[in-house]
Amino acid sequence: SNDLFVLGVETSCDDTAAAVVCRRADGSCQILSNEVWAQHDDHAAFGGVVPEIAARSHVERLDSTIERAIAVAGIPFDRLSAVAATAGPGLVGGVMVGLTTAKAIALAHNLPLVPLNHLEGHALSARLTEPAAFPYLLLLISGGHTQLIHVRGVGDYVRLGTTIDDAAGESFDKTAKLLGLGAPGGPMVEAAATGGRANRFDLPRPLAQRAGCDFSFSGLKTAVREAATSIEQPTGQDVADIAASFQFAAARHLAQRTEKAMEMISPPEGDCRLVVAGGVAANCSVKKMLQDLCAANSWQLMVPPPKYCTDNGAMIAWAGAERIAAGMTPTLDESLSLAPRA
Ligand code: KG4
Ligand code: ZN
Repeated sequence: SNDLFVLGVETSCDDTAAAVVCRRADGSCQILSNEVWAQHDDHAAFGGVVPEIAARSHVERLDSTIERAIAVAGIPFDRLSAVAATAGPGLVGGVMVGLTTAKAIALAHNLPLVPLNHLEGHALSARLTEPAAFPYLLLLISGGHTQLIHVRGVGDYVRLGTTIDDAAGESFDKTAKLLGLGAPGGPMVEAAATGGRANRFDLPRPLAQRAGCDFSFSGLKTAVREAATSIEQPTGQDVADIAASFQFAAARHLAQRTEKAMEMISPPEGDCRLVVAGGVAANCSVKKMLQDLCAANSWQLMVPPPKYCTDNGAMIAWAGAERIAAGMTPTLDESLSLAPRA
């Protein structure tokens, strides 16, 4: 049959992940397994991801994570069509572990290896669970990246905007640290913001006067620090209010820049689709703000379920399958640049 069975390996940051997906000849997707070993505990004592520890943890856990992904899927190695792995960008130690392991499996079982750009995995992740048709506008908001991309097809990405300083997820992580909320930052800020008053602190609207759709989060970070240090002995309510005010301001910034990108590409009525991907897309306040934006402009909004928004193997396996189906498997070099075309 023309069904593709692809093993995907993801080790570019602090999640050790492997998955098997099936891409049917009609283009539909079936996720057969999706195993993720989150390393939060390994890094908790250090207040952030330590690259050396991440690489060691990937070494220790990747084999068993892949074995589980294969076992749960019930697809033996020799029935796979290909092995896909993140080739970058990311923490180089972790990327080496995943890519080398994937290479070894491909070699041992005589399978093609598909090296992939991590961002392409996020970019196509909505199509894991929904028939998101091309073209669409992609808001990619993760711990390392904040970008608006016009996705016109597999391998056809036009970058419209990016952050000029911190990434969106990074600003959540730094806010969590500042407020003493612990890791992982995004979910902790979201939890702390529940019951907080989002209008207590009037935080800035970054780049409000600037054309285009780039992002900036460092001003918000500074404003959060000022708010936090303005209170001598912050109560739980104070922390909740700061978290809620920050979350609101970050979500508003994301929505405002996304609106600019919508205007920039102004697609015909049938092609008004916004896809959100990356860990920050798991945030309900961000989702709500984007829902309102899309409703006001008659755009369709697609947000993958949280487990496919954060780093996972399924999105890498799927991007590999999409590349193979399109006859466009990248070389290692090509996989490293998510080439903005013009
Ligand atoms: O896509 P991802 O798993 O890894 C990267 O490629 O970076 O994104 C991780 C980022 C972290 O900064 C994390 O704090 C953030 O996504 N994040 C969230 C939430 N869940 C994860 N940010 C806000 N709210 C959340 N619920
Ligand atoms: Zn990611």
